Amino acid sequence: MKFWVVGKDGLLGREMCDFFDKNGVYFVASSHGGADILDEKALLAFYNKHKPSHIVNCAAYVNVDEAEGKGKELAYLLNVEGPKNLTRLAKKEEIRLLHIGTDYVFDGEKKTDYTETDETNPINEYGRTKLLGEREVICYEKGLCLRTASIYGKSKPGIISGMIDAVKSKEVVQHISDQISTPTYAKDLAEAIFQIRDQSGLFHFTNEGSVSRYELLLYVWHLVKELGLDVKCREVKAVLQKDCSRAAKRPLRSVLSNKKIEKFLQKPIRKWEEALREYVEEIC
Ligand SMILES: NC(=O)c1ccc[n+]([C@@H]2O[C@H](COP(=O)([O-])OP(=O)(O)OC[C@H]3O[C@@H](n4cnc5c(N)ncnc54)[C@H](OP(=O)(O)O)[C@@H]3O)[C@@H](O)[C@H]2O)c1
Repeated sequence: MKFWVVGKDGLLGREMCDFFDKNGVYFVASSHGGADILDEKALLAFYNKHKPSHIVNCAAYVNVDEAEGKGKELAYLLNVEGPKNLTRLAKKEEIRLLHIGTDYVFDGEKKTDYTETDETNPINEYGRTKLLGEREVICYEKGLCLRTASIYGKSKPGIISGMIDAVKSKEVVQHISDQISTPTYAKDLAEAIFQIRDQSGLFHFTNEGSVSRYELLLYVWHLVKELGLDVKCREVKAVLQKDCSRAAKRPLRSVLSNKKIEKFLQKPIRKWEEALREYVEEIC
């Protein structure tokens, strides 16, 4: 068994490499420059050199707002054509392809958690391109798409480090109270990807529970204060999504159900609060 991490310099890509390193899993990894997912010849050359048994595709276009405008074409290329190229290669070589999907394939109107069999209905370009990409992958019998949400990790700044910086540097900080999902620690996600490596089709994985962006910011604020760090923030305000000027709409409630993947994992999935506390304690 030998893994190929595609997109090794991204948030999840780095975390995936770190997981393999720490757990003695045999792997190779490529960056954008080392194996461009839009260049089939480069992908084949990398494959022929290393002969992996599993590809983990961590490369994508993830700028949700820019995908509505100037990033639209690139989002399509990276999120649809890229997975299509990787699927073609994996099919030809009969190797496994593990791909990462998003909660943004849903419209967020459902009151309960989304399962893998729920109807998709993306409301932004990022979600639309990611849906087309996951369809390419799961058409292949050895293809797997693991949908997840709001990833944060130590390797790259993200949603949580942005909140920490904000409460450290600003007196008043605000966030959206009507956008609910589940923050997911990239370290837990990397482990789940490894464990699910020989399954096919669609799976969901996030940390357990759900929270609005506003409640998440409150939680981070209290955590940082509890750890005794210098905090400038005196007030955390709630705002509604409709009052924020962002190019892309986000689903209001895009909580993913973990029930299906739980059957394959050997330990319970951590609650988002527990994973977040560990992360904040580690980085602060
Ligand atoms: N972040 C989240 O909150 C979130 C939530 C749900 C799902 N996801 C999904 O999780 C996956 C990982 O996301 P992430 O946050 O780790 O993304 P990320 O940090 O933006 O990493 C994406 C990586 O893709 C690489 N890349 C771009 N164009 C490429 C190309 N043509 N060929 C090869 N590599 C290329 C980038 O390299 P360069 O920087 O060198 O271009 C970058 O290292 C994605 O599929 C994303 O849709 C993310």
